[in-house]
Amino acid sequence: MNIRTATKADMAQIFQLEQAAFGEHCYPDFLFRQWLDLSPSLLLVAEAESTDESACSERNSAFLGYVVGSLGEVKAQGWVLSLAVTESARGKGVGKALLEQFIARATSMGCKQLRLTVHPDNRALHLYHSCGFRFESAEADYFGPNEPRQVLVRVKPCEE
Ligand SMILES: CC(C)(COP(=O)(O)OP(=O)(O)OC[C@H]1O[C@@H](n2cnc3c(N)ncnc32)[C@H](O)[C@@H]1OP(=O)(O)O)[C@@H](O)C(=O)NCCC(=O)NCCS
Repeated sequence: MNIRTATKADMAQIFQLEQAAFGEHCYPDFLFRQWLDLSPSLLLVAEAESTDESACSERNSAFLGYVVGSLGEVKAQGWVLSLAVTESARGKGVGKALLEQFIARATSMGCKQLRLTVHPDNRALHLYHSCGFRFESAEADYFGPNEPRQVLVRVKPCEE
């Protein structure tokens, strides 16, 4: 697997997966396009590496997932805004690899605290805990009525 900065050519697949993963709570396609201009280092794509050239010539066959985030007004504080892996690639370490690479990049840009929101029933909580995120707060209507979210925070360990 290869993790790299996204390009304009990835936009359609990123948005297709965002829609499939988050339904009515997906970010709009134009926002991904503008994130690419705003903060390209923090919009990452995972793709399958193949020795078979023909398998990789079709971009669809290689795309596994994405992560996107942003640094805040105070650059030491950033957010992971969306993370998704294609259904057939889940459970194989792709999500964790994307998140770890995102953390490394954000850290190298001066970020010391990363936050994200997650539905309290989302099994992604396990992934976030294993990457060092901890519960910070909960809001019953974070995204509107009946849309509870936990805010998790990951503080950069001193040794990083
Ligand atoms: C959440 C998501 C990105 C995880 O990606 P993934 O590639 O399947 O996750 P990984 O294989 O890297 O797993 C990472 C860890 O989480 C655990 N995990 C992953 N999916 C899990 C699940 N459904 N239930 C329980 N644990 C799970 C793995 O066991 C692994 O733990 P470990 O490191 O201790 O072994 C993926 O399931 C997804 O796209 N879900 C839909 C979109 C979504 O909910 N995104 C998160 C929004 S907050």
